[in-house]
Amino acid sequence: MSDLAPSPVAVDGDALEEILEGFHDIPTIPEVLVRIWQIVDDPKSSASDLEEVVRLEPPLAAKVLRLANSPYFGGRGRIADVRMAITTLGFETLRNLAVCLSVASGLAGRQPTESRLDTRQLWQHCVATGVVARALAKERGLDRPDEAFTAGLLHDIGKFVIGMGRPDAYGEVARLVVDEGLDPRAAEVAVLGFDHAIVGMAFAARWNFPPRLQAVLCHHHDTGRDDLDDVFHAVVLANRITYALDDYAIIPGCPGHGPDDAHFEAFKMEPAWLDEHSDELRSEIDEAHEFMNLV
Ligand SMILES: [Fe+2]
Ligand SMILES: [Fe+2]
Repeated sequence: MSDLAPSPVAVDGDALEEILEGFHDIPTIPEVLVRIWQIVDDPKSSASDLEEVVRLEPPLAAKVLRLANSPYFGGRGRIADVRMAITTLGFETLRNLAVCLSVASGLAGRQPTESRLDTRQLWQHCVATGVVARALAKERGLDRPDEAFTAGLLHDIGKFVIGMGRPDAYGEVARLVVDEGLDPRAAEVAVLGFDHAIVGMAFAARWNFPPRLQAVLCHHHDTGRDDLDDVFHAVVLANRITYALDDYAIIPGCPGHGPDDAHFEAFKMEPAWLDEHSDELRSEIDEAHEFMNLV
């Protein structure tokens, strides 16, 4: 993926700040997460520093073990201790997953009635996008399939952050989409002044995610980005493929769109690949929902 940071976009800084601040107010963001960020950012830290922190949080330790043992990270049931799990997942993946799990589980308990964002459907779509992005990366022989998984899992994190910072916003977004037929991103811009891609990028920048991951979050709805690499295009295509495999009604009454030929072309893949692999992808997604059934 390109190391170029996403280009700055003119948005209402105060409104964006309000949404990001809403994230800080969530009581379920544990201190342990802050420690994980510090350790991952410190070049002198080691797997044992991280192990010490993860062990203090048994639910997180259990999730780390479960993930490391999943087929997606190659453990296949052989990894019995936290340190080996951390080594298998890698520092960056662990941090990104910890953030995503915190956001998702933070939201699960506070789905406001006025919000019409279905966080469970959103989480399932995010897990599916991670699984498909990883499968695409492996199919093309890319050398970072785990990065594709993480980027796919996090691509719509901006929607979670909006759901926390402005729980009322998705009620109005959904009304514009369902009643007035607006495109969901256009509806977000109409209500907030920016869309979930911008929020995701700002969130990722705030928490020092790598610039290439920020670029995925910022541009995952863009087509024709020749300046971004194949992991990026895998996520863009995977995001669309999930809607061809299942109905993820993130806004109830508003199904997402499957891929166009242009999405396959950008990833240098034939559309027929999806027909040949859809059963396999569906069962991988089912398996992933089982082990990531945390929301
Ligand atoms: Fe998105
Ligand atoms: Fe998406």
